[in-house]
Amino acid sequence: MTGFKAVLDSIEDLNLNQLHSLLHLAKVFKDNPSQINRLKGKRLCTFFLENSTRTKFSFQVAAQNLGMHILDVDPSKTSLQKGESLLETFRTFRAQGIDVMAIRSSEDGLLLPFKDKPPLALINAGDGKREHPTQALLDLLTLDLLFPKLKNLNVLIIGDCKHSRVAGSLCKLLPQFEMKVTLCGPDYFLPDNKLGKEELHTTDIESALKKADVIYLLRVQKERHSNAVDINSYIKTFGMTLDRVNSLARPIPVLHPGPFNMGIEIDEALVEKPISKLETGYAGYKQVENSVYMRMSILSHLLKESP
Ligand code: CP
Repeated sequence: MTGFKAVLDSIEDLNLNQLHSLLHLAKVFKDNPSQINRLKGKRLCTFFLENSTRTKFSFQVAAQNLGMHILDVDPSKTSLQKGESLLETFRTFRAQGIDVMAIRSSEDGLLLPFKDKPPLALINAGDGKREHPTQALLDLLTLDLLFPKLKNLNVLIIGDCKHSRVAGSLCKLLPQFEMKVTLCGPDYFLPDNKLGKEELHTTDIESALKKADVIYLLRVQKERHSNAVDINSYIKTFGMTLDRVNSLARPIPVLHPGPFNMGIEIDEALVEKPISKLETGYAGYKQVENSVYMRMSILSHLLKESP
């Protein structure tokens, strides 16, 4: 595939052909994940300035499946701590033979300065409150596998939309596949402006639930709040339980990018009802499984075209 940029910073770095190609290859890998000759000898560096369980280790598993070598770097032990710049850090890894880095940061737009002249292939593995493009892409794969056709699917994203990088990427991605995205939560969790091409921001969860084909829950991100949130009131209005989902007029899958606050945005009975096909239940572990295939696809596309 032509034109894949060396920095995957935002969903906006990908055109529709590239999105379809990523989805197609991810499905090929789902059927046959052992691809050890595909990127044999290439090197991935996971460089996480913020903690992660799903993203970091699924990149590593994806790289292993592709025959890559993996260097897991703790940024707090690098010369960044002596004042070395990020650019110099990237150049140094390139000189050591690293081909691609997956980078997580609490800073919005950390990779923006490197997009014009990247020293090596870089992947945004979640930056602050801005974007998490690889999460949105694996969610797209999960939706594609759950639903025979994506067109006109009503995706209801409930929760802390204002502080969510996942919402930032989903609102840019899902409408490109003609899905209708609604953001729902209390006023203080709704963004001031559109994040992408979502149709609606609403506090009216009951009306939104009636139209939804998919519920996508977001974590209440206490670490990013400047004011205290009334959690009990949040749970009462927006918390999702198995009984609540079962009471809807049709079966509906519930997605969550994880990690979740059990008993706040999602309850244990719902998490314990894994989904196997289009039915009511929790699809979060399917998202985790699919993350490996989508990240294999991302690494394959990126390294084929990068400098
Ligand atoms: N979904 C997600 O980004 O999870 P981690 O923070 O565990 O990587």
